[in-house]
Amino acid sequence: MKLHRLAMNDGQSIPQLGFGLWEVPAEQTARVVREGLAAGYRLIDGAAIYGNEKGLGEGLRETDVPRDRIFVTTKVWNDRQGRTEARRAVEESLERIGLDRIDLILIHWPCPHRDLYHDTWKTLIELRDEGRVTSIGVSNFHEAQLQRIIGETGVVPVLNQIELHPRLQQADLRAFHKAHGIITQSWTPLGQGRSFDAAPVRQAAARTGKSPAQIILRWHLQIGCSVIPRSTRAAGLAENIDLFDFALTDDEMAGIASLDAGERTGPDPMRFN
Ligand SMILES: NC(=O)c1ccc[n+]([C@@H]2O[C@H](COP(=O)([O-])OP(=O)(O)OC[C@H]3O[C@@H](n4cnc5c(N)ncnc54)[C@H](OP(=O)(O)O)[C@@H]3O)[C@@H](O)[C@H]2O)c1
Repeated sequence: MKLHRLAMNDGQSIPQLGFGLWEVPAEQTARVVREGLAAGYRLIDGAAIYGNEKGLGEGLRETDVPRDRIFVTTKVWNDRQGRTEARRAVEESLERIGLDRIDLILIHWPCPHRDLYHDTWKTLIELRDEGRVTSIGVSNFHEAQLQRIIGETGVVPVLNQIELHPRLQQADLRAFHKAHGIITQSWTPLGQGRSFDAAPVRQAAARTGKSPAQIILRWHLQIGCSVIPRSTRAAGLAENIDLFDFALTDDEMAGIASLDAGERTGPDPMRFN
């Protein structure tokens, strides 16, 4: 199976669908990475704070899939922001994963009250120019923070990874991303299962013979997002990539659009420091 890729604004591309490693126990991470790659995924979403970058690296070394076919993301945690700290943090992530170069580095949260995200962004630009990282982006950024880093540096993040699921659809931010050539990547895409029983999801599942999770993941793909569901189970990984033999109708897409409630499962990025 060849997964669809999204073009990024720096000339690179990213698989639209991947899998995430948040809360994957360190000792299970190499297995999950191997099983995910065997199931056909080529995008892996990691982060220093997940505490499993070593396992991610082990999985990359153990798989038969060549390194150049795999897209690896990791993130700079909040207490490592700033010009010097961010550089050290990225070097440490590369060391832990065991790579010379990472495909994508994100600033994990803006932490507006610390006011270091714009300095951190400048360091990521340098690391990209030095070849330590191929592409650079952000996570949990609001429009004003995106505008600031773009205004100060002229460099537009390739993507913004944000909380997004049927109960938090982020239409305004997605429109801003689209206008600036930034990919929207959805985290907690299954929204803790809170929409699994909603009528539009159940009805689409009944029509297609797919599970509620597959309906919701297909919705993310059809609204144009990159999406990174997590499962520690091989069967879950396989289910979450089995999305390409059906499509949601316009009515089904509209039904899921109607579930938006502006409801977060995670912290508000403006207050999380
Ligand atoms: N940038 C950020 O601040 C941020 C924040 C949160 C997450 N993320 C990233 O986004 C990724 C995904 O988000 P997430 O891990 O919070 O949540 P998620 O992928 O929406 O959901 C994961 C949960 O759903 C279950 N699940 C997976 N597939 C399922 C299926 N087909 N049917 C029913 N349940 C299923 C999993 O359990 P099983 O393991 O038992 O399958 C797990 O409990 C993370 O792993 C991480 O890489 C980023």
